[in-house]
Amino acid sequence: MYGDFSLRRAAQTDAMFLGDMLVEAANWRAGGVRPRHEVLTSADHRRYLAGWKRTADDGLVATASDDVPVGAAWYRVLPQNAPGFGFIGVAVPELIIGVHPLWRARGVGRSLLRGIVHLAGSQGHARISLSVERDNFARNLYRAEGFAVVREGESRDTMARGTA
Ligand SMILES: CC(C)(COP(=O)(O)OP(=O)(O)OC[C@H]1O[C@@H](n2cnc3c(N)ncnc32)[C@H](O)[C@@H]1OP(=O)(O)O)[C@@H](O)C(=O)NCCC(=O)NCCS
Repeated sequence: MYGDFSLRRAAQTDAMFLGDMLVEAANWRAGGVRPRHEVLTSADHRRYLAGWKRTADDGLVATASDDVPVGAAWYRVLPQNAPGFGFIGVAVPELIIGVHPLWRARGVGRSLLRGIVHLAGSQGHARISLSVERDNFARNLYRAEGFAVVREGESRDTMARGTA
């Protein structure tokens, strides 16, 4: 059932799948049950995807050998007056990542993370940020991949790293 995966650039037509991954990210906690519609229309989350793919948006989709999408990482440059959870400055992109539950713990997330940092760098971004809740294990993955906490919130932290 499981095979290799590969990464490709996210296209405008991936919006539906990116929506699936945004819902996974919002529901990361075991038993997380926020309905898709609620996540995708909430003020907090819709800003990460509404209108995809805008000029400054970019991302990667991980696909299985049969071309089925299994994970995605993408970034968006959000304005200061409508920032994301992980906003650290004007023109610094913030990334979102999610892997289909059946494909987790197989290296897809790490691979997407490395790829999106590289992609952001190749598009001229010197830094990239993200937001993670403090008890999400993904935090360890981010730290291992060179992200450091730049702002501590009540329950979530903002992390960032350079793209070089
Ligand atoms: C976070 C996420 C993107 C990681 O993707 P993944 O494909 O599962 O990660 P990888 O297989 O590349 O594993 C990366 C590391 O995390 C560890 N890991 C994976 N699943 C884990 C789990 N359930 N608990 C603890 N550690 C875990 C792996 O062991 C690996 O570390 P190692 O290589 O040192 O062993 C994915 O699990 C996911 O989509 N989670 C739900 C959504 C989410 O939390 N998004 C991030 C919001 S900030």
